[in-house]
Amino acid sequence: MRMVDIITKKRDGGELSPEEIRFFIHGYVQGEIPDYQASALTMAIYFQDMTDREIAELTRAMIASGETVDLSPIAGVKVDKHSTGGVGDTTTLVLAPLVASVGVPVAKMSGRGLGFTGGTIDKLESIAGFHVELSTDQFIDRVNRNKIAVIGQTGDLVPADKKLYALRDVTGSVESIPLIASSIMSKKIAAGADAIVLEVTTGAGAFMKSEQDAIRLAETMVRIGRHVGRETIAVITDMSQPLGRAVGNALEVREAIDTLKGRGPADLTELVLTLGSRMVLLAGKAASAAEARRMLESSLESGQALVKFKQFVESQGGDPGVADRPDMLPQAKYRIDLPAKRTGVVARLVADKIGLAAMLLGAGRATKEGSVNFATGIVLNKKVGERVEAGESLLTIHSDRENVDEVRALLDQNIAIEEHAEKPKLIHSIITE
Ligand code: URA
Ligand code: CA
Repeated sequence: MRMVDIITKKRDGGELSPEEIRFFIHGYVQGEIPDYQASALTMAIYFQDMTDREIAELTRAMIASGETVDLSPIAGVKVDKHSTGGVGDTTTLVLAPLVASVGVPVAKMSGRGLGFTGGTIDKLESIAGFHVELSTDQFIDRVNRNKIAVIGQTGDLVPADKKLYALRDVTGSVESIPLIASSIMSKKIAAGADAIVLEVTTGAGAFMKSEQDAIRLAETMVRIGRHVGRETIAVITDMSQPLGRAVGNALEVREAIDTLKGRGPADLTELVLTLGSRMVLLAGKAASAAEARRMLESSLESGQALVKFKQFVESQGGDPGVADRPDMLPQAKYRIDLPAKRTGVVARLVADKIGLAAMLLGAGRATKEGSVNFATGIVLNKKVGERVEAGESLLTIHSDRENVDEVRALLDQNIAIEEHAEKPKLIHSIITE
């Protein structure tokens, strides 16, 4: 088999055979196929697309390129959740203890943040003492005992994705649905998921800016799931403005605690109930999504979910007292309010730019090697669709430096107040096939 024939076949719109796909992935990871040929193929895929059969085979070949996690020693159906990313996305911090509190095992592998997208691990590490360095045995043991544990990326999962993603990033083929879908699904499956709930975000703060592309990506991933025998559903959600009110690590932990106490922002609460009820359903712990939702609502009301959060924090080295005294979390030196310039309704809070503003305050990393400031970030006092009086605080900047002129300028350019504006619809649709 020759790589050049595979490239020309795809260039001309042909369907690659399973052998050709495996030849490419194997050869590329082994270093036998050079970057220039791999990038020619990814560009051909970008223009010619792939069939469901090709995408499923590509996903399998990527999984086979490295190690896989065996979660079979954990009792029950392991349902994983993945979000294509967002700003102020506090979901996992609430969702994981919430679904664990009704008996669904949560064996979560998480990452650190890069750019304006925060990482779950960074947020959790803002709790003093909290750590994610667990051995696989410890990880499995905690999930069996407590139903919940979070671990950092371990082992050599899907090396083909690491290499291909880095190549696509510098050769203009990131925005290809078959390549994104196989990249995400291979990582979830290699991490041991039996079933997968995907949140595919859309809007300014999302990877997929248009709803149409988000739906296409979601449908593709749901079909891959079916092909490889992992039940998968996707929820399409709005990420035109940040999720919830807090953007920043410790600020989001505080928001998660509020939400677990039943007094979180309406959008974050709705999102965790929607995603959570699907996880409970896939785990076989409820007969319908409606029943699953009632179980989760009652866990929030009774305080069971908060108890699970405390147990989770304690079992990974953190002080569970943080749930009762969120002031224990790191706090920034300065709180600076941004007043509304006019009276009206907030019409725009451009998510990625607000994420960028939080990053400039130190809440996110500009490079993989960078560090984060846990304390800093932004709290939105008003969200899209809410009324504001001239001079009233639109948002509060949490900063460790007094001069935030450039952050203020960026925010000014990306917030609009108008006569009228509607609240955006949070849950666009749920895709089950
Ligand atoms: N996120 C991923 O994990 N992979 C992609 O290809 C794009 C976004
Ligand atoms: Ca948030």
